[in-house]
Amino acid sequence: MHSKLVEAITWPFKRRASTIILFYAILLIAAFIGTRYMNVPSLAATRLIRKALPGSKQITITKPHILEKKDFPLQCTPEMINTTQTCPSNYYPTTFNPTDLSTRMCPEYFKWIHEDLQPWRDNGITREMVEAAREHAFFRLVVIDGKVYWEKYRDAYQTRDVFTIWGILQLLRLYPGKLPDLDIMFEAGDVPVVLKSNYTGHESNAPPLFHYCGDDDTLDIVFPDWSFWGWPEINIKGWEGLKKDLAEGNNRVPWMNRLPFAFWKGNADMGDRIKLLQCNSTDQWKTQIATQDWDQETKLGFKSSNLADQCVHRYKIYIEGIAWSVSEKYILACNSLALLVTPKWYEFFTRSLIPMKHFWPINPDPDNLCKSLKFAVNWGNKHTEKAQKIGRAGSKFVQEQLTMDNVYDYMFHLLNEYAKLLKYKPTVPPGANETCSEGMACFQEGLQRQFRLDNMVKGPSNKNPCDLQPPQEPQLIKTFLDKQDSVRRRVDGWVAKGSATGD
Ligand SMILES: *[C@@H]1O[C@H](CO)[C@@H](O)[C@H](O)[C@H]1NC(C)=O
Ligand SMILES: *[C@@H]1O[C@H](CO)[C@@H](O)[C@H](O)[C@H]1NC(C)=O
Ligand SMILES: *[C@@H]1O[C@H](CO)[C@@H](O)[C@H](O)[C@H]1NC(C)=O
Ligand SMILES: *[C@@H]1O[C@H](CO)[C@@H](O)[C@H](O)[C@H]1NC(C)=O
Repeated sequence: MHSKLVEAITWPFKRRASTIILFYAILLIAAFIGTRYMNVPSLAATRLIRKALPGSKQITITKPHILEKKDFPLQCTPEMINTTQTCPSNYYPTTFNPTDLSTRMCPEYFKWIHEDLQPWRDNGITREMVEAAREHAFFRLVVIDGKVYWEKYRDAYQTRDVFTIWGILQLLRLYPGKLPDLDIMFEAGDVPVVLKSNYTGHESNAPPLFHYCGDDDTLDIVFPDWSFWGWPEINIKGWEGLKKDLAEGNNRVPWMNRLPFAFWKGNADMGDRIKLLQCNSTDQWKTQIATQDWDQETKLGFKSSNLADQCVHRYKIYIEGIAWSVSEKYILACNSLALLVTPKWYEFFTRSLIPMKHFWPINPDPDNLCKSLKFAVNWGNKHTEKAQKIGRAGSKFVQEQLTMDNVYDYMFHLLNEYAKLLKYKPTVPPGANETCSEGMACFQEGLQRQFRLDNMVKGPSNKNPCDLQPPQEPQLIKTFLDKQDSVRRRVDGWVAKGSATGD
């Protein structure tokens, strides 16, 4: 990194005395190291460099990130505890001035933003429509001039709602001043609730409601769930940190040395998962099912639930519970071949996972489930190169496309596109209070505090969000989905044939 920086700085001087180059380079490196390791405020360092290089207009610094970025720690004061006004004024920047003007295209899965907002694309969204979503909402969140206000309607399970709002507050810290005013209703339960069948032929009248997952029968707008910022109640840290742990976990046991059967661990009492128990036999079905008792784990301090220690099987099963499960990204990140029991619900990114490219599809029908698992394991143990390739592709998807940068950009574009549809100027609802990172973190303790701080955006980004592509033709989306169905059917065919011949 150092040499790259020196190279970028020195090129305009190449024809001058090389001693000068060396002198400036050393100065720069010293300033750079200063910002890195000695906590010298980085803006001061930038000024230092400008001063050290008089008339340095033609200098191009290709990697200015580290020099320009400034951190804004929380401003917690004891007085805050007794007032509702806990948000420091005139502290955090209200505008956003990126220094890195490079652009990049958003990942392919951002196309679902347009699909989710499609019902309202032509006629827009009125205040009445937003307020009609209230009967299902857990909270309403309003952004006005970069400030966040929320009104709580009902209690969410554990702290899902709070961590969801934390994520939105971090988005505003990342791109201050960039998000337009908006007004959203958020449903923080499990299953999506705005039934399509209630709005057949007049979907544009449906109440817009944000939620963590969607399915083919509902119109809920899919938003990243709280687990990206952490789930303190069960000690699952935020995605940034966990993603790193899982990448390390991947290196501990090479795929060929992993246990050659399918593995699942979780709470089997939820939803349809009970049907997995019949497959619990490494001899008959090449499958092992372990139950996770969260009460017990909580008592034992989660010693046996470290996700990064669980990358020891060649095949890992994903099965949804009452709705989507936050575990999908953890299962995919293991370099194991992910066996996805075809889900009913989707998260914002999962609609772009492709069977036989990123995962192996498993038939969810209870009569075919065990056969389907066994077939996949036998196939993988026979075709180890191909199985590893799919496993790696799934991990690469979550490791490289599901970065926190992209999660924030997805939220940004979704909220930005949504705000464009509003046909009114949002105002602060009477029951809503302002909130900010300080209000949400200063008086927390334990993991509740730690996870918030660990997953806090330190300062404004120095880059713009990625470039969102326009909506795709409906025909293209349909072809995309049809293709996935046909791959699933093909695999079902192999299983049926294989089972008939005793393969
Ligand atoms: C907050 O209010 C309580 C009760 O009125 C008082 O005892 C306490 O000292 C106050 N704390 C601060 C930091 O002002
Ligand atoms: C807003 O503040 C009022 C008064 O302090 C409080 O009763 C209410 O619970 C707060 N609402 C939220 C969503 O925090
Ligand atoms: C759908 O329609 C039914 C029957 O009219 C109604 O009870 C229900 O609340 C509606 N649900 C939604 C999500 O709009
Ligand atoms: C699955 O089978 C193993 C081995 O027979 C057993 O130890 C385990 O408890 C079973 N799992 C469940 C969820 O019953």
